[in-house]
Amino acid sequence: MDVIGIASGKGGVGKTSTAVNLAVGLTLRGHKVMLFDADMGLANAQLTLGCPTEFNFGHVLSGEKTLEEIIVTTRQGIRLVPGASGVQKLASLSPLEASAIVQAFSSIEEEIDFLIVDSAAGISNSVLTFMQASQRRLIVLRDEPSSIADAYGTIKVLINDCKLDEIYVVPNMVDSQVAGQLLYKRINEVCKKFLGRPVKYLCSITNDEHMLTAARNYQSVLEYAPGGNAARDFRKLAESVAAMSGTTTANGGVQFFFERMIGQKSV
Ligand SMILES: Nc1ncnc2c1ncn2[C@@H]1O[C@H](COP(=O)(O)OP(=O)(O)OP(=O)(O)O)[C@@H](O)[C@H]1O
Ligand SMILES: [Mg+2]
Repeated sequence: MDVIGIASGKGGVGKTSTAVNLAVGLTLRGHKVMLFDADMGLANAQLTLGCPTEFNFGHVLSGEKTLEEIIVTTRQGIRLVPGASGVQKLASLSPLEASAIVQAFSSIEEEIDFLIVDSAAGISNSVLTFMQASQRRLIVLRDEPSSIADAYGTIKVLINDCKLDEIYVVPNMVDSQVAGQLLYKRINEVCKKFLGRPVKYLCSITNDEHMLTAARNYQSVLEYAPGGNAARDFRKLAESVAAMSGTTTANGGVQFFFERMIGQKSV
């Protein structure tokens, strides 16, 4: 199983859109995908997937529900772990709570090819914890100064403080793939110069008005406008992510993600 964490720094640049459409794209390719919504914002994954849920991970943390009771299969076939503000507590669980969660996740290990973690804006401790527990990290950014500065700030913390690699820049809302590549090259030069490490690139996501209408219709853009530019790009992103699958040395199932997250054992 591959664990892919999605972050940005600045809010509203397309993390949830990327997480959801990557999840749908990988599902369409025949993979079993779980999406963990660790985003406490309003435009969250369950809305974008048209799958409102009654219970969420907060109910697991409070002991009101089991994991099996809160995980839903969306109509796209994604196993969704609905997030809640309680997710913030994950970074400071008692050992007993932590082992209960790890136990709960161990029962679903074998079914999942990709676990995608959609995080909140900013670089709070809980976001960093999710990124550390992931095997690869996608940093979504837009071509505007505050988004570039925040993405760089996030990458800097991931590289310098967390000692992480496998960081992929995903330019979003760009005019063309060429424009996205140029934005990647710019930030990569800065990373090489000031952090001494390059970042990686998969593909960019074109600015596409279908994203907004899809969201208004509670659909991913891959369902709503499969012939559009953004859908084409998300299919390419899913293809690239699938092609990398299994190439990291880290392995394990969903429970290992939570073990790494809670115990920070293998990072
Ligand atoms: N490629 C795109 N083209 C056009 N609009 C887009 C694109 N990607 C995202 N959007 C729109 O940008 C808005 C913000 O996207 P999204 O909610 O995915 O961002 P986010 O980073 O998850 O935000 P938050 O930090 O609040 O969690 C949404 O209205 C979404 O439809
Ligand atoms: Mg979001």
